[in-house]
Amino acid sequence: MSSTLHVRVWRGPQPGAFQRFDVPRAPSQTILDVVTYIQRVLDPTLAYRFACRVGMCGSCAMTVNGVPRWTCRTHVDKVAQAGELEIAPLRNLPPIRDLVVDMREFFDKWTRAEGRFKGATTKQSDFARVAPDSEKRRDADAGIECIGCGVCYSACDVVAWNSDYLGPAALNRAWTLVQDERDAARVERLQAVAGDAGCHACHTHVSCTERCPKNISPTASIAGLKRAVLKAALEGEL
Ligand code: SF4
Ligand code: SF4
Ligand code: FES
Repeated sequence: MSSTLHVRVWRGPQPGAFQRFDVPRAPSQTILDVVTYIQRVLDPTLAYRFACRVGMCGSCAMTVNGVPRWTCRTHVDKVAQAGELEIAPLRNLPPIRDLVVDMREFFDKWTRAEGRFKGATTKQSDFARVAPDSEKRRDADAGIECIGCGVCYSACDVVAWNSDYLGPAALNRAWTLVQDERDAARVERLQAVAGDAGCHACHTHVSCTERCPKNISPTASIAGLKRAVLKAALEGEL
């Protein structure tokens, strides 16, 4: 193994270009370590985003050797066997500068998909009791650990073709709420995801599911939404 990594880092704003840096290899080095080294030692003007460094905040996602990934939990050894790295901003989101993208449209789509819990109880109400082994609870739990990193959104070709498409993360969030027995906005939410830019636009390419660092399957969540929308339509709820 070479002791030096040859790293090409995207520098923007537009038109932008890759800039080359040589970075010393280190044990257990992550992609975020590499970017941090470049910014702290080689070029303090490099812009990138991170916060927790432990896979919780979702802010460090970038495109690494052509694949969207969370960088704080991606080890160099896993993705750069030949000692070459290419690091770019996430696809499908407007670049702001260098490795930083504008996440507004990503989170605006969560709002459009009614991705907020709407309860019907007060603080005087008893605790809700939701059986842990119920199908709805299992569906909600399967998607709930999303950290909003945007990796799935960047991996999705339908988002690339149709910028209006709500995308895998917002639809996954909507599904966790549709399956949450405590939520009081099911019909409203199904209406929000039933349109042309909603769940029916998904082509089931599965890129989102293959890439999600939290092992969530937005593809399965979107399939669940399609079934729920159809059932609600047949029952005259939509
Ligand atoms: S399964 Fe659907 S949401 Fe996921 S990447 Fe494919 S088209 Fe996009
Ligand atoms: S579903 Fe996975 S890839 Fe998509 S935003 Fe959530 S954690 Fe990230
Ligand atoms: S820095 Fe928080 S998930 Fe990577």
